[in-house]
Amino acid sequence: MAIKPILKMGNPILLEIAEKVQEFNSPELEGLIEDMQDTMVSLNGAGLAAPQIGISLQLVIFGVEVNTRYPEAEEIPFTILINPEITPLSDEVEDGWEGCLSVPGLRGIVPRFTKLRYQGYDQYGNAIDRIVEGFHARVVQHECDHLEGILYPMRIEDFSAFGYTEALFPDQEYTD
Ligand code: NI
Repeated sequence: MAIKPILKMGNPILLEIAEKVQEFNSPELEGLIEDMQDTMVSLNGAGLAAPQIGISLQLVIFGVEVNTRYPEAEEIPFTILINPEITPLSDEVEDGWEGCLSVPGLRGIVPRFTKLRYQGYDQYGNAIDRIVEGFHARVVQHECDHLEGILYPMRIEDFSAFGYTEALFPDQEYTD
């Protein structure tokens, strides 16, 4: 178990297409997931993709607990998602603020599908198949984009809504 350094935007690994995980339920996979969990928790992140710690595999983790610091946040169950596939269930998109541990200190408005189905596997190879919307759908799209070499600034359409967190939200306390 270890907290790993996060690769920052500009590192070419973040632009790679990640490889599929071939072997489930292995000590290597378990160790990688523990490192990702430790890293995400230490940085208060809502999600983390394996390429962000330099491992170009199709593995993301995410989850948001409702707490008093973010009472407006929707709860997302902690999820380990491997070899994911996303199917949008509507053409509807909505704008929302995003940040990324690989793009520290910044926030931007990103359009995302409002409703989708995601499928994949947990670390033991059990199937995951969920239909979600809203913030949960946004987080899944953001994390799975990392597996295709896409960072959220590449999705921004209105660059007047892209900036430093403390300048955009001077009255609020935010972390990356
Ligand atoms: Ni990110």
